[in-house]
Amino acid sequence: MENRQINFFKTKDFNTVLKPFKKGTVVKIDKFDIRDNQKELNIGLFGWYAICPSKELKKNKLHYFSLYDEPLILYRDENNNIRCIKNICPHRGASFFGGTLSNGVITCPYHGAKFSSGGSCQNLDRITCSHIVDNNYDNYAKRIHLSQYKAIEKDNYIFVHFSKKSDTDLNNLNEDTPLSNYELSDNGFVPEDYVSEEVLVDFKCDWSRIIENHLDILHIFWVHGDTIPDKDVNKNVLVSFNQKFNITPKYIESIYYYKNDPRKEFIRIKYLPPGRILIYKGDPSVSRYLQVLDHIPLGNNKARVIVRHYRKFLKNKIINDLILFKETQRKIFYKIFDEDYMILKTQTYNHNMGLITKDEIKLLGEDRIINYFWKWYKKSEEKDNPWKNINKTENLTVYDEVILKYPPEIKKLEFINNIDIIRKTLLRFAAPLLFFMLLI
Ligand code: FES
Ligand SMILES: [Fe+2]
Repeated sequence: MENRQINFFKTKDFNTVLKPFKKGTVVKIDKFDIRDNQKELNIGLFGWYAICPSKELKKNKLHYFSLYDEPLILYRDENNNIRCIKNICPHRGASFFGGTLSNGVITCPYHGAKFSSGGSCQNLDRITCSHIVDNNYDNYAKRIHLSQYKAIEKDNYIFVHFSKKSDTDLNNLNEDTPLSNYELSDNGFVPEDYVSEEVLVDFKCDWSRIIENHLDILHIFWVHGDTIPDKDVNKNVLVSFNQKFNITPKYIESIYYYKNDPRKEFIRIKYLPPGRILIYKGDPSVSRYLQVLDHIPLGNNKARVIVRHYRKFLKNKIINDLILFKETQRKIFYKIFDEDYMILKTQTYNHNMGLITKDEIKLLGEDRIINYFWKWYKKSEEKDNPWKNINKTENLTVYDEVILKYPPEIKKLEFINNIDIIRKTLLRFAAPLLFFMLLI
């Protein structure tokens, strides 16, 4: 495991950076350690993105989503292999929305073209008339073919490799970044030792702003201080840390050690581009809790987050069901996202209106990981141009109705979850009690 050794060698000292919030609440980052001797991140915005947990992708169901505003579909073919195709029928450009999938064959709702899982059209006679295409028929037949990206299922996630362009032949596509970069076992823990649950949320705000938020330790105490069940994460407690920042070609990370116990890690935040953040509660080798956050850039001001938390405690399923652990955890996550949401939306607006300029932003020493992220992001956006010259539209697009499916307004999610908790509580506790009372 890399960088686990606590090895302070200060290259720069932002001694006692004191960050005042309101009413005497402070977070203090005392010692700042930067390992500048390491290389730069060499990964850009092209690469693997976790799109959804495996269980979300049901047989014979089309899963609509987008990456950088390019409409896409995921599905399982007849051999249970994962397919990611462009949601644009190669006949006349209609969406497959409203079409069907049966045994790996996808049917367009517009003129009924059927495409095999390999991507070729199986019923050309349905959409062509020989007297129109006559001698050009063969050429036409070659052109009408689904365009695809690489997709794979691993660790109970569905991943898609987003690259410069999709292709009719998957063999023509190279991998910009290997999927192994995301390997959890290479990042300090064995997934088999843990149990996990996840939550998915859609945000109507900028993708990179959400990543910034998840790299930001300072806001946790203030924004989430009343919600996160950790005695050290509290609005009114003074917490003091030493910080170490590592840059490697594959990831960047910030580690926070307790100042009064410098060998003890409070939290470790690791960014694995393009889409993944790992948050460890304590040293990865002993951490009983880990969050894996996958960020999906659906489009301009549209992003999805999958939060999967792995834990070593409370592994018994029956006890979990009984105390409604999953629902309670979900409730906490929705609350945390809700606390961030307005901030993210207003930041996105301010950014898009050109109201946030470099001169007006004062990043502090402890914001170093954020500073590094922004520089990397701008450079990568220019280099890769993932938007592929798609016009960024401010307004909602017709695809939003199809794509935004994990209710983007988080209050709704909280409400649905609360109803679920009430319903299950009644069922589990009140119903047997009622039954017992009726008996006596
Ligand atoms: S647009 Fe799909 S079959 Fe015509
Ligand atoms: Fe947050």
